[in-house]
Amino acid sequence: MIALFGGEKGGTGKTTLATNLAAMRAKAGRDVLLIDTDPQGSASYWTQCRDEEKIEPRVACVQKFGKGLQAEVRDLANRYQDIIIDAGGRESTELRAGIVVADRVFVPIQPSQFDVWTLGRMDDMVKTAQGFNPNINAWVVLSRSSPNPAVTETAEVQGMLVDFPNLKLARSTVRDRIAFRKAARSGRSVAELDPQDPKASDEIRSLYEEVFGDK
Ligand SMILES: Nc1ncnc2c1ncn2[C@@H]1O[C@H](COP(=O)(O)OP(=O)(O)OP(=O)(O)O)[C@@H](O)[C@H]1O
Ligand SMILES: [Mg+2]
Repeated sequence: MIALFGGEKGGTGKTTLATNLAAMRAKAGRDVLLIDTDPQGSASYWTQCRDEEKIEPRVACVQKFGKGLQAEVRDLANRYQDIIIDAGGRESTELRAGIVVADRVFVPIQPSQFDVWTLGRMDDMVKTAQGFNPNINAWVVLSRSSPNPAVTETAEVQGMLVDFPNLKLARSTVRDRIAFRKAARSGRSVAELDPQDPKASDEIRSLYEEVFGDK
């Protein structure tokens, strides 16, 4: 499975979700590679931190930039069971190239109108990529949404998505929880914290099942 986390809006949780899922996938015994295509290198720093803390299992991570990404990912897909791509914060060569080779694309957004406005171009990119890769599926993931259960942002965003025929809304929502920041600082997934935040762990498990499970 090649799963890509991307989107043009910065700070939506792409690296957070990609790193959490990579750690969980490795823990499940899968041979997983995290590909960091963002020059900021946050996913790479996370794996370095994980290595320094000697957290098992290791998560293999490589940085890849430029147009060659497509061919390289195809080649790496023969050597790893799963590839998770953290595809930067802007519209980029890497984002376009990654979408063409991905099986599943996930676009984290915060439930704000400003984030929703960035989806038009993602929708176009997915449509273009479908010309080369008809099996591609793309979901919007509500990320960093309010932990207050009274806030009904999911339904509102669902309504806004009707304008983007190539993007579906993921069933799982990841809310803004301190555990995600804590885990990031120590090269862990929220499922590896001690003590865990059960809500954060449940949310990421639900997303894990959606990313790697049957559609
Ligand atoms: N669910 C969450 N709960 C709490 N904090 C979060 C959550 N998701 C992300 N964050 C925090 O928000 C900030 C941005 O998250 P992250 O780096 O994952 O976003 P990004 O989309 O990869 O950003 P960029 O566009 O810069 O690559 C980080 O400080 C991260 O720890
Ligand atoms: Mg990032």
